Amino acid sequence: MGHRHSKFPKLIHKINKATNDKIRNTECPQLNKQDDLYLDRMQVLHNVMRCISNGNFKAPVDEQLREGSAVVLDVCSGTATWLSEMASDFPQSTFIGIEKVPMYPDHKPRNIKIIQADVLEQFPFSGDKNQNSYNTFDLIYSRLNFFAFSESQWKNHLIKEYIRVLKPGGYIECVEGDLNADNPGAVTEQLGVVVEKILVQGGRSLSLFMKFNEMIESHPQMGKVTRSEVVMPIGSWGGQIGELGLAIMLHMLSGLQKGIMYHMKLNEKDLDKLWDDYKIEWANLSFGKNICMVFFNEAGFLV
Ligand SMILES: C[S@@+](CC[C@H](N)C(=O)[O-])C[C@H]1O[C@@H](n2cnc3c(N)ncnc32)[C@H](O)[C@@H]1O
Repeated sequence: MGHRHSKFPKLIHKINKATNDKIRNTECPQLNKQDDLYLDRMQVLHNVMRCISNGNFKAPVDEQLREGSAVVLDVCSGTATWLSEMASDFPQSTFIGIEKVPMYPDHKPRNIKIIQADVLEQFPFSGDKNQNSYNTFDLIYSRLNFFAFSESQWKNHLIKEYIRVLKPGGYIECVEGDLNADNPGAVTEQLGVVVEKILVQGGRSLSLFMKFNEMIESHPQMGKVTRSEVVMPIGSWGGQIGELGLAIMLHMLSGLQKGIMYHMKLNEKDLDKLWDDYKIEWANLSFGKNICMVFFNEAGFLV
């Protein structure tokens, strides 16, 4: 599947414009309402993440994917961009997505199937008489899903379901972002505190990022988790990727506008100034090269 670099400047413009728009959705867990701009943002984010990670996955399943014997599950597959690229790259393997909202395109590679379902219920794979195991997937991929669910939903349901449907020897690969900025400026720090408050109020946990591998490893059936981190630059110091990173971050934050106004006691004019200060701070921190989002990638395997 082709890169979309030629569309980026237009997208940045669109996203920046939306950041300044007055009407916002403030749904905390999703950070943004799933409108066209959200879909564009997820698409751009996918491209950025693939670029900084040098590919679409890290688990050692290339050979199986190439041979065509692999069955892959993408949990909360969203726009199905990752699935579509993988399905095109490995036409002999099988790719399944589960997603609650039908935001994926009608035309998909023929080796993809997307099931519209709520992952907070039992995953729709229960062919086994013993519903405690299903053993179907060689790779379970889960990206940017942390903030869609609470810590207890992860611990008590999702991780268990991932493991239930994973084949012995199969891999679970999670890719998530750490929202904490490294060495932030004053405005970034202030906003960080407020964003954390909003997420915690919505039942989300920022510390999940640090303890997720332990949660997986503590399951008796799981082997050692390997963790690798890549940095996504935010701001012009990171070149085109950094500019895209900044546009993505601003759009995400704009989804929390109401909460930010409430906690910081701001009116709309103050909020516009805050966004401006924020952009200036990020532009001026260019020498520090220190505003980034860290994505980690964990591959845990079933023993
Ligand atoms: C931030 S997006 C990540 C999408 C995709 N994994 C990616 O990397 O582009 C989170 C996704 O989780 C989906 N989602 C949230 N709650 C869900 C649920 N209970 N069941 C299934 N999907 C859900 C949302 O619709 C959204 O597509």
